[in-house]
Amino acid sequence: EASAARGGRRSNFFSEQEAWEEQQIRKSRLNFGSGDGGRAGGGYELVLEDVVDFVKSTVQAGAEPDGEMDELAEAVDAKVKLQRELQDERKNLPVYKFKDDLLKAIEKYQVLIIVGETGSGKTTQIPQYLHEAGYTAKGKKIACTQPRRVAAMSVAARVAQELGVKLGHEVGYSIRFEDCTSDKTVIKYMTDGMLLREFLGEPDLASYSVVIVDEAHERTLSTDILFGLVKDIARFRPDVKLLISSATLNAERFSDFFDEAPIFKIPGRRYKVDIHYTTAPEADYIAAAVVTVLQLHVKQPAGDILLFLTGQEEIETVEELLKQKMRTVGSKIAELVICPIYANLPTELQAKIFEPTPEGARKVVLATNIAETSLTIDGIKYVIDPGFCKLKSYNPRTGMESLRVEPISKASADQRAGRSGRTGPGKCFRLFTEYNFRHDLDDDTVPEIQRSNLANVVLRLKALGINDLVSFDFMDPPASEALLKALEELFALGTLNSRGELTKTGRRMAEFPLDPMLSKAIVASEKYGCSEEVVTIAAMLSAGNAVFYRPKDKLVLADTARQAFHAGNVGDHVALLNVYNAWTESGYSSQWCRENFVQPRTMKRARDVRDQLEALLERVEIEHCSGAGDLDGIRKAVTAGYFRNAARRQKDGSYRAVKSRQMVFVHPSSGMAELPPTWVVYHELVLTSKEYMRQVTELKPEWLLEIAPHYYQRKDIDGHQPKKTAKDKGPAARQT
Ligand code: CDP
Ligand code: MG
Repeated sequence: EASAARGGRRSNFFSEQEAWEEQQIRKSRLNFGSGDGGRAGGGYELVLEDVVDFVKSTVQAGAEPDGEMDELAEAVDAKVKLQRELQDERKNLPVYKFKDDLLKAIEKYQVLIIVGETGSGKTTQIPQYLHEAGYTAKGKKIACTQPRRVAAMSVAARVAQELGVKLGHEVGYSIRFEDCTSDKTVIKYMTDGMLLREFLGEPDLASYSVVIVDEAHERTLSTDILFGLVKDIARFRPDVKLLISSATLNAERFSDFFDEAPIFKIPGRRYKVDIHYTTAPEADYIAAAVVTVLQLHVKQPAGDILLFLTGQEEIETVEELLKQKMRTVGSKIAELVICPIYANLPTELQAKIFEPTPEGARKVVLATNIAETSLTIDGIKYVIDPGFCKLKSYNPRTGMESLRVEPISKASADQRAGRSGRTGPGKCFRLFTEYNFRHDLDDDTVPEIQRSNLANVVLRLKALGINDLVSFDFMDPPASEALLKALEELFALGTLNSRGELTKTGRRMAEFPLDPMLSKAIVASEKYGCSEEVVTIAAMLSAGNAVFYRPKDKLVLADTARQAFHAGNVGDHVALLNVYNAWTESGYSSQWCRENFVQPRTMKRARDVRDQLEALLERVEIEHCSGAGDLDGIRKAVTAGYFRNAARRQKDGSYRAVKSRQMVFVHPSSGMAELPPTWVVYHELVLTSKEYMRQVTELKPEWLLEIAPHYYQRKDIDGHQPKKTAKDKGPAARQT
């Protein structure tokens, strides 16, 4: 059976067609003498190990040393040439000149702050220098954290290529739900959140000789927590080296925090960047951005364009608009290669942004904030900056967290502009006015720790045995109100007892790499006899927001297909479960996905996530149980995690959150939007034009009293509907 040969159960994900395609790709990987000079076979970079494998297999097969050997020689030549080019590129990076000084400084000091312009080679080169200098001897590893998954993956791929090894061997990456490392791995790129999780299993990080906290200036929540933890391990592990690397020159803060650690500056090259502002504010920055791209494309000399947008949806909209425009102008103007890049973009498509632009064409990269500092794309000469990004914001009073599109800071705007002046003079087009820039933008972005719900962080720290959060060494401490709120939330979820210690439930929850509310739903599912179902729902919620798609020419068909998963109309959570189960029954078929307008990629990811969550169920000894058709049980388990997100419909059709009284709406993408129930519980809020609830499920109000009696009282579910004859109409009667 073909699937067995390809090892394990993953293979039955693939249809026969896909299996065949994969085989062709594998063949073409080895067939490297032909075509494009061997730089890439079927889109894959060759690695030296492939060559060695190929030689071995050819020799073993007793092949005639003629044709195939010629091919091989050619391929080896091409490989050597590519490697030489790569090595030359490495030597041209600003950091290269400082290699020896840097290694000396690292030897001398335990903690070193490294500052250098984006693109100077900090992320890709320093781990390699350390590797060469022997820091990976005796089986020790180098960790390099990245705030973003995409950066961790793409940088690891680049470094593997530079070293001529397969990704996942000596160089690997680890991100949530995806571990691409092996026993061989000595250079490990990982998200900051993953390193945080590693503390659980290895509190002193003994297997690492060097920890690099990279992109420190981003000040993500996890990076800020790491600061406190690594500072602590440096004290009792004199052998460990700690590097804090940052793009902005404002590194004194880091030095102050790490007991006056020395700062190593890598002087960058930065060419002059001309900044252009609009004369009047732009009402619609999407439209303005599209027009600007096209104008630049037609009028400006060669050079690629980088446009900053706030998220996947915007990027897809702009991509579509640009494609339409390009179709209408036809062949009258040069080709425009459109390259989107955002966190959830599938890996194989991400590589596209690094491919050289074809002769005569121009590339436009549509990127989220990720291209501000964590990714360097060569060849960018023009930057278009609408001046916005998506930021998490948290209201400790209501306990609500939401993603908002917000104006960027001056520091961000300058970083963005700088992306155009890396290889020559550049131009930056700001889609806002100079007045705006000077008077309306903040100097710096507020660190994430000061605008987040801290429940997750508090749970992680408690699981590491850090109980006294007030004296934890924060670089910028969170507001005490937010800390209190987090403790309160964890207490309400049954994670902490009244002394603030982790309960058994809390210890189980901490094992799951999920938000506390979702972990709680899983832990609670045992009681309702539906752990199988709730794990599926959790996997679907974690796999990404794009489960369904709606092609413009098939809107009705797509909506009908989606609605079919809503049979019984109890909510989006159960619909997600139905999708997953139907897909499983189809044999994980891609054809099924196409027929049902479901994204195959999201499903495959959900399956991976589900496998991992299922393994964790075992670890925390939660029974595998299935409540087949018991939708109430499933909804109660969800409610056990999300009861704080309960909302009730008002006469005007809007909803109000039961406790905070905030006005919220059902997201139009929800299957519940058409027949909105009176009581709902939602997964999350997103703010666009309004506060929208995403993933909404119907709830019986009595469940709130049954599941969270410490949080809700009868007056919460009876009240609010202004003084009717509440006496004769009990909640049960009103329910219908
Ligand atoms: O970390 P820093 O911003 O200082 O630089 P880097 O990420 O190490 O990038 C150095 C160079 O590596 C860039 O100029 C790119 O040419 C190249 N690079 C790449 O080709 N592909 C990546 N995924 C990352 C970097
Ligand atoms: Mg970097």
